[in-house]
Amino acid sequence: MRKTKLKHTTITVTITLVSVAVIFALIRAFVIHPADSFAEEGSVLFVSKGCSQCHFVDSMETKVGPGLEGLFKQEKLPMSGWKVTEENVRMQLETPFKDMPSFADRLTREQMTQLIEYLKAL
Ligand code: HEC
Repeated sequence: MRKTKLKHTTITVTITLVSVAVIFALIRAFVIHPADSFAEEGSVLFVSKGCSQCHFVDSMETKVGPGLEGLFKQEKLPMSGWKVTEENVRMQLETPFKDMPSFADRLTREQMTQLIEYLKAL
């Protein structure tokens, strides 16, 4: 009798632990991970869509456009002086402030979000 009870307890504990592990894995995959993977996608897009031809990401020095290191830690966007918000960066991509080419036709909304997540991580 005692042995069976012990076995049940072991099984219950094991099931509980496995469930907790699975729940954490799911939370990581669906809650924490999107921002990370968006930023990763964004870093690929930054090169493949040509942003890197005009912008440094590891400095604030001007290449063709302003360096974007620490962009989201600033109060204002470097050229336009617009407040640093996701909406204003999206606006820069769609209808740029001055000389930057528009990416309205070259990026989907999701790709813009991915680039913004990447810029936030710089
Ligand atoms: C051909 C060069 C060029 C390319 C390509 C380019 N930019 Fe720019 N970027 C500029 C210039 C020049 C500015 C300065 C503001 C302006 O002229 O609109 C700028 C400004 C910016 C700013 C700051 C805006 C502000 O209001 O100060 C951000 C953010 C930005 N670019 C992001 C990007 C991203 C993301 C990409 C890729 C999707 C990209 N740029 C591609 C030239 C470029």
